[in-house]
Amino acid sequence: MATAGPDDVLIRVVATSVSSGDARIRGANFPPGFGVLARTFLGITRPRQPILGMEVAGVVEAVGQAVSRFKPGDRVFAFSGIGMGCHAEFKVMRETAPIQLMPAGVSFEEAAVLSFGGTTALYFLRDVAKVKGGERVLINGASGSVGSAAVQLARHFGAHVTGLCSAANGDLVRSLGADAVIDYRAENFAARGEAWDVILDTVGSLSFPQCRPVLRPHGRLLLIAGGLGALLKAPVQSRLSGLIITGGTAPERCEDLAELKRIYELGAFRPVIDRCFPLERIADAHARVDTGRKVGNVVVLVGGPS
Ligand SMILES: NC(=O)c1ccc[n+]([C@@H]2O[C@H](COP(=O)([O-])OP(=O)(O)OC[C@H]3O[C@@H](n4cnc5c(N)ncnc54)[C@H](OP(=O)(O)O)[C@@H]3O)[C@@H](O)[C@H]2O)c1
Repeated sequence: MATAGPDDVLIRVVATSVSSGDARIRGANFPPGFGVLARTFLGITRPRQPILGMEVAGVVEAVGQAVSRFKPGDRVFAFSGIGMGCHAEFKVMRETAPIQLMPAGVSFEEAAVLSFGGTTALYFLRDVAKVKGGERVLINGASGSVGSAAVQLARHFGAHVTGLCSAANGDLVRSLGADAVIDYRAENFAARGEAWDVILDTVGSLSFPQCRPVLRPHGRLLLIAGGLGALLKAPVQSRLSGLIITGGTAPERCEDLAELKRIYELGAFRPVIDRCFPLERIADAHARVDTGRKVGNVVVLVGGPS
């Protein structure tokens, strides 16, 4: 078993997830143009971190002598993000890393999938787009992990939310708080005669030329799954249009987990669970994520709570 250093928290893992990030890294399936960059960062000949898994919910097994925020027995959720290593029976993290006590009333399954979609949606909507009450927000991929969190958080910020998703997921996206839902297979959202203040593309299928006519003045286009080409063009397009076109990577911050916990406890954010798999069937969990059609999050159950 791993042991805790002086500043470490040793978490016994109850549940984790296979996120789209895990599946991308396992399959070396990166957005166009990011292959070399990602390989350099993650390992060229073999993975620097061979254990995938970016988020976890579990019970604190032990803490180092300098740790004051947690004690053995605490139920916590944590986000190791690109550091990964959560597909394991135990996970060691620094006390200062993104770890929080689980929200009241949450299951381990739900707590395990609060972070990946939640922190991404929170960062891009609150910090980058600075969504305000009354603004119109369009979310492409509204039924995915990031999208389902984004619908709920945009609604929480008081926005009018339009979700773009397949027809089968329309009712779910409406139930998460979307005011309107568009089936992207049946209708071109840009031909509706409507406009939005913020467009969040979690699929990587939208472009600036396509979105420009339907972005209001001061509009923001968030290309969170965009290829390198789109991101390189974004600063020039922003300067010429007066709009904000941007992408990048969401940070992994302890305070964002605290905020998601707060919003969960208000009842305004519930992570969506697609399916739960036992750890022995993690290959099936990856296969489900690889379909690109999961609804919310895929959970992996590792051990019992006690
Ligand atoms: N920049 C960052 O910091 C950051 C952080 C996290 C994730 N990401 C990226 O964000 C993306 C989304 O992640 P995720 O975990 O939310 O993925 P996900 O859960 O797999 O969701 C993707 C959603 O896209 C929809 N979809 C699939 N093909 C589509 C198409 N052709 N047109 C429109 N919608 C389509 C699917 O819904 P339907 O079945 O309803 O079509 C699915 O629910 C990934 O590329 C991931 O790498 C970026």
